[in-house]
Amino acid sequence: MNEEQVEIKWTDDESIDFIKYGNFFVPYREEQNQIIADLLPAEKAPTVVEICCGEGILSKHILESIPGAQIIAADGSDEMLKKTKENLAPFEGNYELAKIDLFSRNWRVFNEPIHGFVSSLAIHHLDGPQKKELFSDLYRQLEDGGALIIADLIKHENDHGKNVSAKLWDKAVMERSLRYRGSLEGYEAFERLKWNCFSDPNFINDPIDRPSTLREQLGWLEEAGFKEVDVFWMNAGHVIFGGYK
Ligand SMILES: C[S@@+](CC[C@H](N)C(=O)[O-])C[C@H]1O[C@@H](n2cnc3c(N)ncnc32)[C@H](O)[C@@H]1O
Repeated sequence: MNEEQVEIKWTDDESIDFIKYGNFFVPYREEQNQIIADLLPAEKAPTVVEICCGEGILSKHILESIPGAQIIAADGSDEMLKKTKENLAPFEGNYELAKIDLFSRNWRVFNEPIHGFVSSLAIHHLDGPQKKELFSDLYRQLEDGGALIIADLIKHENDHGKNVSAKLWDKAVMERSLRYRGSLEGYEAFERLKWNCFSDPNFINDPIDRPSTLREQLGWLEEAGFKEVDVFWMNAGHVIFGGYK
């Protein structure tokens, strides 16, 4: 893949905040990463692309869980790719880094067989038609039996679901803050940075984060050709879903 000139709407400041606080903000992060690894096809040495890998935490988990796996860890932020390189250092030879613009279609062509695409907390940057196009592009690149597994925020169908997710996300961040910091410092940052989109009445107009409903996304996966499209886990408005070729 070629290195691209990336103009991301996600800013460097957001990367810095996420590097600092992501471990508090992502609910059940370890559990989510294990579920994603478990859902990948049982290839001996699968090649997996992580789209918008951030610091490479999911990529690292996959490399630890699946011996011989090859990872292409892709992101648009130099800061994030630098962190990924540090985190994946013990797996030299089993990973490559790629600078991509999620919005571009140029990176969505691979010379090697791809057995899995995974992504956590990033596909919601695309609008509905862009998500639909991404799912079709990725389907074409997958080997038979390959998987697209997405962990992401969803848009709720109504305020009942949204309000429940708002509370559950607060609770999960409080617990993580107490567990990892011994104080509510992580939760206070979550509130200060207004990260809980489910309790933000103006979120609907957010230009950066554009989650779609789960129903829409499952439909786009099926339209792209994916089989066995399913929802594998959900809590606090965060869902793991996907399908197989
Ligand atoms: C909320 S973080 C999630 C990081 C990681 N997947 C995780 O779950 O920890 C969103 C990531 O998407 C990346 N990103 C945002 N917009 C992008 C774009 N247009 N092209 C490529 N990467 C982008 C950011 O650099 C960041 O690493």
